[in-house]
Amino acid sequence: MPQPSINQARKRLQILRQQIAHYDQLYYQESRSEISDFEYDCLQAEVQAIYQQFPTLKQSATPGSDLRNGVATLPHLVPMLSLANTYSKEAFFAFDQGLSQQIGPHTYVLEPKVDGMAINLIYENGHWVRALTRGNGKAGEDVTVAIQSIASIPHQLIALPSSVLPSKVEVRGEVYISHADFAALNEAQEQQGLEPFSNARNLASGSVKLQDLEMVKQRKLQFIAHGIGYFDGTLATQTSVRQWLALQHFPVFSELIQTHSIEEAWQLIEHFSQQRFTLPYPTDGMVIKIDDRQQQMQLGATAKSPRWAIAYKFAPETVETQLLDVSFQVGRTGVITPVAHLKPVELAGSRITRATLHNFDEIERLGLCIGDWVVLEKAGEVIPAILRVVPERRTQVTPIQRPSHCPVCQASLIQLNGEVALRCPSLTCPAQLSLRLTHFASKEALDILGLGPQTIQWLIQQNYIQTVADLFNLQSIRNQWIQAEGFGAATVDPLLNAIEQAKSRPLSRWIHALSIPNIGMEAAKHLAEHFSSLTELFNAPEEALLRVPLIGPCSVQSIQRFYQNPTNQAVVQRLEALRITPKVSESSSVVHAPEFQDKVFVLTGTLSTLTRAQAQAHIEQLGGIVADRVTQQTTTLVVGDHPGSKLQKAQALGIAIWNEEQLLTALRHANPNG
Ligand code: IVH
Repeated sequence: MPQPSINQARKRLQILRQQIAHYDQLYYQESRSEISDFEYDCLQAEVQAIYQQFPTLKQSATPGSDLRNGVATLPHLVPMLSLANTYSKEAFFAFDQGLSQQIGPHTYVLEPKVDGMAINLIYENGHWVRALTRGNGKAGEDVTVAIQSIASIPHQLIALPSSVLPSKVEVRGEVYISHADFAALNEAQEQQGLEPFSNARNLASGSVKLQDLEMVKQRKLQFIAHGIGYFDGTLATQTSVRQWLALQHFPVFSELIQTHSIEEAWQLIEHFSQQRFTLPYPTDGMVIKIDDRQQQMQLGATAKSPRWAIAYKFAPETVETQLLDVSFQVGRTGVITPVAHLKPVELAGSRITRATLHNFDEIERLGLCIGDWVVLEKAGEVIPAILRVVPERRTQVTPIQRPSHCPVCQASLIQLNGEVALRCPSLTCPAQLSLRLTHFASKEALDILGLGPQTIQWLIQQNYIQTVADLFNLQSIRNQWIQAEGFGAATVDPLLNAIEQAKSRPLSRWIHALSIPNIGMEAAKHLAEHFSSLTELFNAPEEALLRVPLIGPCSVQSIQRFYQNPTNQAVVQRLEALRITPKVSESSSVVHAPEFQDKVFVLTGTLSTLTRAQAQAHIEQLGGIVADRVTQQTTTLVVGDHPGSKLQKAQALGIAIWNEEQLLTALRHANPNG
């Protein structure tokens, strides 16, 4: 491979940094990812390889270019500390002994330790002005937008008869997602064919960083207050802090446990550890605090945590059960995941029958066989993990075979260099088809307006589509299709027309549409500049591919493996035979249309043919604006299934209301080629 010059490396570095920043933004702001961890690591590894070859380029990295540092941070009035933790009974008792020596007799309050995200609510002259994350303890990110989704947070403090309204107050507490809401959110993810969220705490902390209020609302965030930071006034004890919070209508812990003895506190902890799964919020321990605030002040804090409180954390629950079988599931990108089927057991408040094994290497690492007894652990995650095998309980066991073929379509599995996962590479694999098609038709790929997840599901169920290439033969079933419930000529004909239009999309879109692992939109654009057709691309020698910017050895292998699969080859050849006449270059410029130009749209409810993001992208491409809230400025409200309160508000304000059909018609009318 020819050595790049420093200028080429600099250019490449710039692209890599942009890509990494894009994926970081998705990951940290929206808790989602368009690429696998492996693909992300490939990008980072390439950056490191460039630094190694050209160390001077390292210094050119812009400090703070990372988006994580780019979000506005604002100072807390009083620093937000963390708590000293312990898992040991001895350390818990030693904490009490230390305090007795320093302050003599003392009273404790005992509270659950909520497993969520710490938030600081700032009130000025009685008004709630902002919400901050803990951040580095001194300053946190401004997350007011997302926290506004929590209806139980008071916007206004009340002047209480017993005390004056403080001019400045910081209310501290946890944002969390309840067990029940978390389970429901994951069920919805599964129904849409999406990966489940791994645990409620991470989902809560990712959700508070979202900027889209509608999206945050779906996450059902809740808040519970457990203390104050800055407070213009006097509250003598933690007990009175809690009373004040309750009088101000903040959600607080239901019972207040006060005790003078550490022995009693320990008994209460033991009791609570049995009860905790019946509480609405997730907990990972208990916090014991000195009640008297004067004593708290006297004890002070270290740089990290107060000396007047300690958290006793529950060890993650474990239980033993037997492995009955292992099956292999095919994910939406073809990744094969082994799933352990277990003899049902009760663990951390739920009945467990399955556990993920991540990948086949994990089975080998554990030395796992069918029939083995295993230790299961559940530490906040929905899906429990198998910690280890119990060798003493092994009797009759059967080894687990590494799969060589896809359990759904029987294609030969592949393993990309450096990747642990086995993948089914087939474009026709039914397990992947609906998600591949959704991507194929998406705005960033072939942009087929009206071909949303529900229509795709229906076409697959009816057996009209087995591969992405079958999309282009749907004209032949038009007459049956328009008779089907929920369709009709007014829906089907424009869709067939949109599919026809897709044939002339730029080659870069076609490459992107194929969902080749490691090949995103940017890489596809570079490839389209170097090759004139899909066939030319797939037959290109390695050296030619490596000359393309953004294409490194990982991507080359990915392209070649994709085409080595015979079904993929057949699909690509069929697509080529459709006489795709891609436009040479893509113009991404906004098309201006009077129905959309500078008009303000608000979306409510679920659309059936478009995702919210797709609808927004189409409207914006035509010069329109998509806003979150209905206001006097709103021009049009687009209403899907189960609309929210926005509908009444728009009706009251006399704003134009469109259904999905009207939106699609207007989009087609404004941009007949789009
Ligand atoms: S009191 C000076 N009480 O746990 C810190 N914290 O590592 C005083 N937490 O960031 C915190 N439940 O957000 C307190 N009942 C509770 C809590 C609690 C959860 C969080 C808190 C803090 C972390 C400590």
